[in-house]
Amino acid sequence: MTSPLFDPIELGALKLKNRIVMAPLTRSRAVEGEVPNPLAPEYYGQRASVGLIISEATQISRQGQGYPNTPGIFTEAQVQGWKRVTDAVHARGGLIVAQLWHVGRVSIAAYQPDGRPAVAPSAIAAEGNAMKEDFTMVPFETPRALTLEEIQGVIADYVHAAEMAKKAGFDGVEVHGANGYLIDQFLKDGSNQRDDRYGGSVENRLRFMLEVVSAVVAVWGADRVGIRLSPSNGSNGTRDSDPAAVFVPAAAALKPFGLAYLHLIEGEPGTAMAPWEGAPLLAARMREAFGGPLMLNGGLTRETAEKAMSEGRADLVSVGVPVLANPDLVERWKTNAPLNAPDRATFYGGGAKGYTDYPFLETVGA
Ligand code: PHB
Repeated sequence: MTSPLFDPIELGALKLKNRIVMAPLTRSRAVEGEVPNPLAPEYYGQRASVGLIISEATQISRQGQGYPNTPGIFTEAQVQGWKRVTDAVHARGGLIVAQLWHVGRVSIAAYQPDGRPAVAPSAIAAEGNAMKEDFTMVPFETPRALTLEEIQGVIADYVHAAEMAKKAGFDGVEVHGANGYLIDQFLKDGSNQRDDRYGGSVENRLRFMLEVVSAVVAVWGADRVGIRLSPSNGSNGTRDSDPAAVFVPAAAALKPFGLAYLHLIEGEPGTAMAPWEGAPLLAARMREAFGGPLMLNGGLTRETAEKAMSEGRADLVSVGVPVLANPDLVERWKTNAPLNAPDRATFYGGGAKGYTDYPFLETVGA
């Protein structure tokens, strides 16, 4: 059966051979100095048959880190580690962008270079628990509000990371504006109660996102920059009282940049990324307001991915766990082959097991 999933698509300057994208997946396997794991080139290289790989979330600074062993993209050693990854993906005919990440209040003092509280738009704690470097959990701490001067410093960190991503040989970058991390914290009124030009009105709450995008576009050109948003999954307790009133205008405000794509998390019902009770479904409206390619994400199967595309909610899709467990997911979806079962115990931390040892089709049962 023909499916639009296997059709090529152009996202700005990125020419994808199909519409199945590897979603960013935290694996917590970085080594000393938050340098990508020596097995990361093999892991990503194995998955180069997808149309595009989005790297695991990579912090733009030590201040932006909130989980154990997540890789960074701000030191020379990290760049050297990523260079091996991008070389491996390119050698196998793939494309890979770096996801630029600052967790904001989803960090704790223990990660902060100065040992002070994590930073956020406002001094309002995230909901739930943070994971310490030893993988134990502690309740989130109350962050401190960024000063206006510090906001400019964070934007400078995005620029530095964007430059380092270029040096590392990536094909572009994705600004992580989703899942209750720093940019999302500015967008949503539950976490942003500032009374300066970065808070209050929707226009003010969009400002930080737009300034980051503008700064990163200045490094890369808009046709190699994407952005990821999640209007309503409530990750880390980050919610808005009226997501449609923020996120449809956000998509419209991004339109003039002419970005490569908008990556939207709007999970299928029953998935971890599903909207909270009563939250609106915005993919179709945001796609129209953005006016460029919309990449949908959130617990999609081949069937629900095709449905979303046929209903005008997506131009392409990203999938996480299925690609994690099936390096050749594209071939498997194409041939309706059975899928490897994901091993949740090896998602975070560890070595080759559950990382580079998922079998390809031809080796199943070999
Ligand atoms: C995570 O590390 O758990 C994580 C990272 C990025 C996300 C979501 C979760 O967008």
